[in-house]
Amino acid sequence: MSENTTVLVTGASGRLGTVMVPLLAAEGYRVRPMSRHAKPGWVAGDLRTGEGLAEAVEGVDVIVHLASAAGKSQQTDVQGTERLLAVAAPAGVKHVLYVSINGIDRVPYSYYRAKLDTEKIVERSGIPYTILRAAQFHVFVEMLLSASSRLGPVLIDPSWRLQPVAVEDVADRIVELIAAPPTGEIIEYGGPEVLTFDEIARSWLAARHAKRPIWRLRIPGGMAKAIRSGAQTTTATPTGTRSWRDYLATKY
Ligand SMILES: NC(=O)c1ccc[n+]([C@@H]2O[C@H](COP(=O)([O-])OP(=O)(O)OC[C@H]3O[C@@H](n4cnc5c(N)ncnc54)[C@H](OP(=O)(O)O)[C@@H]3O)[C@@H](O)[C@H]2O)c1
Repeated sequence: MSENTTVLVTGASGRLGTVMVPLLAAEGYRVRPMSRHAKPGWVAGDLRTGEGLAEAVEGVDVIVHLASAAGKSQQTDVQGTERLLAVAAPAGVKHVLYVSINGIDRVPYSYYRAKLDTEKIVERSGIPYTILRAAQFHVFVEMLLSASSRLGPVLIDPSWRLQPVAVEDVADRIVELIAAPPTGEIIEYGGPEVLTFDEIARSWLAARHAKRPIWRLRIPGGMAKAIRSGAQTTTATPTGTRSWRDYLATKY
């Protein structure tokens, strides 16, 4: 089945996309990675302008839609997805799998509102769909830690509760979901454990043998409060199997 199935992967150059593309190829799919920047074997497409999208979806059976731009989410995520699906429906695409984020309906944040609006566009597109909401990727959590320690100490809200997940596990879950009929549902997916940001930061420093202090503060505002309450965690099963500590052990 997979060898006769062409999969367009938007956001193929991103954190998840770089793992997704080789995995789909190894599973026997005909993979068409999309980026704004043309490369051999890839298709060029821009969600903001619509350029290249009609060509990108030609002959495609499944779209794994990963492209996103937090700073330009209205034009890229919301309107861009509308543009993509408007050409995908007449092209006969049979399944769109959209990757969203756990807790976007519980955490007040403009990017998350755009993700929620994008989910609605997928739901109304007329194309059979599956929406996979994922927890924060390990690699993204590490990027947050690096950004928050730019001045020296690691500045964190120690009570944030996260359920970080490996991009490899998310990619595996996507492979399972596109092998099955579209569910027409929103499915949540998290890592194997819920951790406080304090635990995450301490284990990160220990893995890197770093001596930086942690400065703990209670971040004000509704977004931080929701994350403290565990709004981005899920009880959904299955979960990923690779833990945050596995990620650190592999990297350091
Ligand atoms: N990061 C996380 O922790 C996390 C957690 C849960 C869910 N998610 C969701 O998972 C998906 C993938 O996340 P990620 O972290 O892998 O993303 P990422 O690394 O930020 O990559 C985003 C991708 O979007 C593409 N893109 C941006 N603007 C575009 C445009 N105008 N037209 C076409 N493509 C465009 C970029 O491709 P080019 O630059 O090559 O064009 C890039 O490959 C996103 O939908 C995100 O919301 C992320």
